[in-house]
Amino acid sequence: MIEAKGITYKYDSVTALSDVSIHIERGLKYALLGANGAGKTTFLLHLNGILRPLSGKIFCDGTEVTYDRKALTTLRRHVGVVFQDPEVQLFSATVAEDVSFGPMNLGLSFEEVKRRVDDSLNACGIYELKERATHFLSHGQKKLAAIAGVIAMEPQVIVLDEPIAGLDQRHKEMVLDIFSRLNTNGVTLIMSTHDIDLAYEWADRMIVMKDGRVAGVGTPLEIFSKGDLSISKPIVLEIYERLISRGLLRDNGNVPRFRDELLRELG
Ligand SMILES: Nc1ncnc2c1ncn2[C@@H]1O[C@H](COP(=O)(O)OP(=O)(O)OP(=O)(O)O)[C@@H](O)[C@H]1O
Ligand SMILES: [Mg+2]
Repeated sequence: MIEAKGITYKYDSVTALSDVSIHIERGLKYALLGANGAGKTTFLLHLNGILRPLSGKIFCDGTEVTYDRKALTTLRRHVGVVFQDPEVQLFSATVAEDVSFGPMNLGLSFEEVKRRVDDSLNACGIYELKERATHFLSHGQKKLAAIAGVIAMEPQVIVLDEPIAGLDQRHKEMVLDIFSRLNTNGVTLIMSTHDIDLAYEWADRMIVMKDGRVAGVGTPLEIFSKGDLSISKPIVLEIYERLISRGLLRDNGNVPRFRDELLRELG
């Protein structure tokens, strides 16, 4: 669906990405992991053409992205990005104006724009903030408004740069629920996160970045069986392996992904 081939990117003298090649398959959930400064945000900003690679190419549905206005418009209808910093995303005076901006630019009818805005605000649990000034929202509220704005565009691919950082438990679950529902309906998701436990449960595939390079791509189990990728192990896996090494659990090959699965193993 989206393919990055040999992407290199520099900010002045800082090389942020070196020869990054990743194939994003339709309908899957990708977690993008890596230390601060590993290049996650820089990579994600290439997926809808905000950044243009110094060398290498991006393909969307097999077509090379050419960076002219038409190609970028098509790409951005296809791929929505929730930025790491919501301040970058919100630019209208009120929440309603901000969330409706994208759908209005798609040339939809007034009724359809209103439906999309109301639906996305409800889905993010912030309908009551509709008429509020974006400027005065709290950080978490800004993040939710930014997410609502991207959802309202109904893109086929959503890129999420640490979408749940700074959200309380209720809103975290709400946002993850929205994305799960979208994914069930075929939307491809790529989410960067520092929450290894969440990523381990959530992702179909993991991409691990290190120093601007791809250190590993695979299913969560493949990633954590690879040894040193400089990311910590999810707690469920850590406990499971510890129990096996101490002879308290028999290794039957059913490595648990979820907390409940581990508890079931324990009987
Ligand atoms: N606007 C910029 N100007 C100069 N250097 C930058 C800029 N943005 C990022 N960098 C550098 O590029 C590298 C990759 O940064 P990036 O923001 O992509 O990392 P990240 O993996 O998203 O980190 P984090 O987990 O902290 O969000 C870092 O060395 C960073 O200092
Ligand atoms: Mg980042």
